[in-house]
Amino acid sequence: MAKPELSAGESPCELKTVQPPSGKLPLIVDFQSVTKTYEAGTRKSFTSIHNVTFAVEDLPKVGEFIGILGPSGCGKSTVLRLIAGLAPQFPATSGVVLVNGKPVEAPGPDRGFVFQDYANFPHRTVLENVAFGLECAQVSVKERHERAREWIKKVGLDPLKDAGKYPHQLSGGMNQRVAIARSLIMHPKIILMDEPFGALDPGTRERMQDLLVTLWKELEATVFFVTHDVPEAVYLGDRVFIFSPSPGTIKHQLHVAPPDRPARQMQAEPTFLDSVRQVRALLDELESPIDNGNGVNVTS
Ligand SMILES: Nc1ncnc2c1ncn2[C@@H]1O[C@H](COP(=O)(O)OP(=O)(O)OP(=O)(O)O)[C@@H](O)[C@H]1O
Ligand SMILES: [Mg+2]
Repeated sequence: MAKPELSAGESPCELKTVQPPSGKLPLIVDFQSVTKTYEAGTRKSFTSIHNVTFAVEDLPKVGEFIGILGPSGCGKSTVLRLIAGLAPQFPATSGVVLVNGKPVEAPGPDRGFVFQDYANFPHRTVLENVAFGLECAQVSVKERHERAREWIKKVGLDPLKDAGKYPHQLSGGMNQRVAIARSLIMHPKIILMDEPFGALDPGTRERMQDLLVTLWKELEATVFFVTHDVPEAVYLGDRVFIFSPSPGTIKHQLHVAPPDRPARQMQAEPTFLDSVRQVRALLDELESPIDNGNGVNVTS
């Protein structure tokens, strides 16, 4: 992994505004003025995101980790689903969504999706769930089961004890480990995660954050990670997007310190807590109603 391993304290948790891409590197994801309007031209017309523009460079041997924050309904899932090519959010109404320089046309194995509700197949065992993508790619039974066992181990489950279990026999944390293995076994270049740890207790969540950092460094993938948890976004992200309320647009793009030490350690550091406070203040500013002088509150 080309990413430098910094020791604790070498990389303070200061926030820096992201500069536009240098133009020297290809872009892995490029949004140009992307707007999504449902039932356009009717009385029910509703715009969920408006003029969303950002670019993520394809850094050689290093994937960037992007945390996405914003109020409920601002279009965070919409952005992920547009990258994935998933209807009805896909296609966009206007603007351009490029992945690896090409317009997105459909879902593909280069983009893995991990949902909040795990979305494992209930009638498949852990092994069969994890091997699903390889099965679709017609990899032989022997090879796909071997690779699935490796991934079951990588996500911290026991290939001997857990491979034959069904999703209803697993805890939430275990189910999410299966969902992560199912997605990452395909080695996607882009990993899309929509509040994947939202339903987990704080201890399990910290362990999953550490696991995700380890796997992300190994895969060198670009990750888009939606969360409502500010410390989680600041910890995991290299970069944090802060969306405005609906119709969502990116109000801030910030660089934050990379997760180069364990979640529990880094999240207790004063500089980290200071970054979290600053990001929360930016979010509160966007969400708080403004008095327009006539005693009527409007949302900024
Ligand atoms: N098929 C649809 N038809 C009409 N409106 C939709 C459709 N899908 C989503 N929306 C609306 O688009 C807006 C953005 O939705 P989205 O799911 O992207 O928000 P979000 O930021 O992910 O919210 P949350 O944090 O609650 O998950 C919401 O107001 C939602 O109701
Ligand atoms: Mg959502």
